[in-house]
Amino acid sequence: MATSYRVGIVGCGSIAQRHTKAYQSVPGFHLAAATEPNTETSRAFQETFAIPKMYADPIEMLQKESLDVVSICTWHGLHAPQTLMAAEHGARAVLCEKPMAVSLDEADQMIAACQASGTKLAIGHQRRFYPGWTEARRLISEGAVGKPTMVTGYVVDGLLNTGSHVIDGMRYVLGDPQPEWVMGAVERKTNRWERDVPIEDCCLGLTNFAGGAQALLQVDLTAYSSADHFTVQGSEGLLMVAPDSLRLISPDNSNGETLPTLWDTHTQSAAGSVGFESYFHIAYTAQAQGLRAWLDGEAGYRSEGTQTRHSVEIMMALYQSVREGEVMRLPLEEGAYPLSAMVAENKLPLRYPEKYDIRDPQRRTWIHREAYDRMRADGLSHPEIMATLFNK
Ligand SMILES: NC(=O)c1ccc[n+]([C@@H]2O[C@H](COP(=O)([O-])OP(=O)(O)OC[C@H]3O[C@@H](n4cnc5c(N)ncnc54)[C@H](O)[C@@H]3O)[C@@H](O)[C@H]2O)c1
Repeated sequence: MATSYRVGIVGCGSIAQRHTKAYQSVPGFHLAAATEPNTETSRAFQETFAIPKMYADPIEMLQKESLDVVSICTWHGLHAPQTLMAAEHGARAVLCEKPMAVSLDEADQMIAACQASGTKLAIGHQRRFYPGWTEARRLISEGAVGKPTMVTGYVVDGLLNTGSHVIDGMRYVLGDPQPEWVMGAVERKTNRWERDVPIEDCCLGLTNFAGGAQALLQVDLTAYSSADHFTVQGSEGLLMVAPDSLRLISPDNSNGETLPTLWDTHTQSAAGSVGFESYFHIAYTAQAQGLRAWLDGEAGYRSEGTQTRHSVEIMMALYQSVREGEVMRLPLEEGAYPLSAMVAENKLPLRYPEKYDIRDPQRRTWIHREAYDRMRADGLSHPEIMATLFNK
């Protein structure tokens, strides 16, 4: 057993900083190298985190560094090819950011490549390490809400982006049930992209799970959004789930009872005192600890690629349901990205063809950001805001 796992980071942007801080907080990891094509970003990242060796090309890093762990922190379209690359070069574990992939075929290729090379494939759904979510899972399994019937969530900024966290979280608190069917609705009147992937203006998805529980997710239909909170309704109660707290409304507690959830003290002290978004940082630390335990030989990991594949299938089935105009019964046969297919088939005609990317600073400069944020704060949804901006 290695006493210290050699870690390499691929892509040194914003989320890479969270991965790096977490590895540096947890004993048993050694940050060996990182790869970043932007020279200014590369220099700043090396300086901030004292990374011994920087590369511009991930293959060169993988060939030279004998890495145990590779963290993939690039945009969505690179997750599959770079996971395959890391597996081929003998990484013992890959921690790949969400969304796992932009199609079911890609998710399957990632799983197959990692199984062939014996690489442990973890996906960056760090919210599975929130104590509130984990305690909710335990309470629901013990019948705190009776028979779970409906989980409800609201997000903005895209299904694949923020939506992937909430779909994953809804399954997690329900005990990771098998999805059985999905029905979706999608609107795409503007040429909207997110980190180089075409996405919808708004969508809605209903998923039915084995055992009868359902999940309803609204994306960009409301100004309210949270990738951290949702509610679980059951035959005998309602549980409001948050990262660090739970509130249960039941026949015995009709005013609602706040239930305690505590961070594991080892995780908390490893993460240390951070001045910003502390529970987010602590979740990354817990994620790194979980990964180390898995590498050390602990059975299973709560955000394995094989688990996240279900979330990818749900998202792709939502789109495919719109494409085919029917309920999508799983397993899903379509392996490609159905939203791109619908665009190519002109099933989602644009009213406003100008392309913009909500996460690429180069391409979103044309949006009047302040006006956009003001309208969102006033309670307008993404489609309403875009219609207002375009019609000015
Ligand atoms: N888990 C979470 O809560 C969470 C939060 C934010 C972002 N993310 C995910 O993390 C990923 C990265 O998002 P981000 O906001 O950090 O993006 P970012 O733009 O800040 O960083 C991406 C970096 O990758 C670099 N890069 C581009 N091509 C590369 C290549 N071929 N090889 C290596 N590096 C390359 C870019 O130069 C950039 O520095 C996305 O998939 C996003 O969905 C997850």
